[in-house]
Amino acid sequence: MHNIPTNAANSDNLSVIEAIYQRRAVRNFTNEKTSRERILQLLDAAVQAPTAMHEEPWEFMVIQDTTLLKRISESAKNALNLSTDKPALTASAMHQRFTATDFNIFYNAPSLVLVCAKPVGEFASADCWLAAENLMLAACAYGLSTCVIGFAVQILNTPEWKKELGIADEIHVIAPIILGVAAERVVQVTRKKADLLAWK
Ligand SMILES: Cc1cc2nc3c(=O)[nH]c(=O)nc-3n(C[C@H](O)[C@H](O)[C@H](O)COP(=O)(O)O)c2cc1C
Repeated sequence: MHNIPTNAANSDNLSVIEAIYQRRAVRNFTNEKTSRERILQLLDAAVQAPTAMHEEPWEFMVIQDTTLLKRISESAKNALNLSTDKPALTASAMHQRFTATDFNIFYNAPSLVLVCAKPVGEFASADCWLAAENLMLAACAYGLSTCVIGFAVQILNTPEWKKELGIADEIHVIAPIILGVAAERVVQVTRKKADLLAWK
């Protein structure tokens, strides 16, 4: 039986059902840095995820150096500019927003957690996404907010950034997740009803 961290069992924390329904992507954070202790608890919750063949293929990196986060953001924006050679796309509102000088792809969040996969088995990436969701739900239960930043995946997997960050060549960055205290209440994004194909 796994020992639940004492403050994870605090009755002030949300239940898993409450966290599932209350978690929302947050893109506006206060400057408050999440403590090392809390982040380690989130990582411990992450690794409770199901894992194919019990491979536990995940590795994590935490980045709280805001200068470094800004450099990664600029690098991702530059790569987007370079990869976009179609004028219609470059002129699109989305492209202009994502490449604007003051836009930070991490929304100035004080922490970034990278969920990375070791090259084991065909389900390494699935396992890492399950761990990512555990981490986001646990963060929500502790009153913290998160957002997956898919925009960062490509740049973080370049040999240059892997070398700078100390990520081994064979490790793949799967889920970059920003983390912090929400600066404002987020409007609930609704979902369509589950599309049930059949019930036989
Ligand atoms: C794989 C993945 C990649 C995402 N990438 C980004 C991103 O680069 N930037 C961003 O602002 N949000 C990103 N998001 C967040 C989604 O936009 C957000 O989850 C979606 O709009 C639904 O909103 P909700 O999470 O509040 O329910 C990503 C989400 C996922 C699952």
